[in-house]
Amino acid sequence: MMGRPRSLVTGAAGFIGSHLSRRLLAEGHEVIGLDGFTDYYPRWLKERNLQPLLSHPAFSFLDADLLRADLEPLIRTVDYVFHQAAQPGVRGSWGKGFEPYVDNNVKATQRLLEAVKEHGEKVKHLVYASSSSVYGNAPELPLHEEVLPRPFSPYGVTKLAAEYLSLLYHENDGLPVTALRYFTVYGPGQRPDMAFHKFLKALFAGEEILIYGDGEQTRDFTYISDAVEANLLALKEVAVGKVFNVGGGSRVTVNAILRLLQEITGVKPRVRYQKAQRGDMRHTTADIRRAREILGFSPKVSLEEGLKREAAWVEETFFQHDGPCHETGGRMEGAPGGGPPPET
Ligand code: NAD
Ligand code: UGA
Repeated sequence: MMGRPRSLVTGAAGFIGSHLSRRLLAEGHEVIGLDGFTDYYPRWLKERNLQPLLSHPAFSFLDADLLRADLEPLIRTVDYVFHQAAQPGVRGSWGKGFEPYVDNNVKATQRLLEAVKEHGEKVKHLVYASSSSVYGNAPELPLHEEVLPRPFSPYGVTKLAAEYLSLLYHENDGLPVTALRYFTVYGPGQRPDMAFHKFLKALFAGEEILIYGDGEQTRDFTYISDAVEANLLALKEVAVGKVFNVGGGSRVTVNAILRLLQEITGVKPRVRYQKAQRGDMRHTTADIRRAREILGFSPKVSLEEGLKREAAWVEETFFQHDGPCHETGGRMEGAPGGGPPPET
């Protein structure tokens, strides 16, 4: 009889990785979280994500960089690998910013795949966190998995390269790989560079919201617990070697989001429109039929409910202590308030 499954979550201190780790623990997995604390956003936020995990007896944490760590002893012991670590964010991947994308997305993934090929005798499944950004501005919506990927940002190129790497290790070496293309994930713990997080902080602080372009771009926003659920559903044998869209089923414009946020917070946004950002896709809508049919995936949390939960988290994290906690020059000032992100 198989004992407790042992899972490695890379990027476990990040937004999605920390929620996924918590869920795996709740499902009875032993979880090894690995994270190298890249400086993409402040460390205290990642430490805060980790806080509730560290006290769990079935969780252990490895402060390590996938580019350098000796992965052999780790990979030898695990049954499942959830590869969430990456340099995220579309808009920072230009110019000098490109290097950490190549390192943390392409090279780090290649190193992990090599380690699984060499030492992963026990590994039953590796789930790779891919991205809707692999599609680019496709001629037709909704985006389905057979559409030819044509990334529109350097970030998208690195996420696609790592997705292709994962799949070719499956095809050449039989690695049991599944790729999940997440569509703009949100909820408590969302990264500070992402739209809802920034908008909510600006609303609570009485500051201006910056919209890139005319605000009529659309996204298929996906609530965090739905993205996490897709990872568990992906552990089916039938999912091996396949790519799946993971979308929340709520395609809306950025302008409509502002109206919803006004209803939720009771604060009227002050908005400034500036030019669209290079690399930002105009529209994303996920065709999730494949995930529905093969994995049984069905997003559960509505945009209204999910936004309320994220609003409550932003308010509690950044505004319910001795004054607001602002970002200045890429650093956060002030001690974080409140406890860890609430359960999703
Ligand atoms: P995040 O930045 O919060 O988490 C990623 C974590 O990976 C960070 O804590 C970082 O320190 C760690 N990391 C990066 N490079 C590493 C390395 N070389 N070694 C060890 N640790 C490293 O990002 P997130 O929003 O949680 O995204 C998680 C994954 O999902 C990423 O692969 C991202 O590309 C993908 N994704 C996210 C979204 C979204 O909307 N958040 C959408 C599509 C895809
Ligand atoms: C998100 C993540 O940041 C990427 O890591 C991920 O790979 C991608 O989703 C994906 O789905 O693959 P993005 O859709 O740009 O990327 O997510 P947000 O930062 O939440 O932006 C949503 C929309 O709001 C975009 O159109 C963006 O231009 C706009 N936005 C964002 C603004 O108008 N103002 C801002 O301050 C921030």
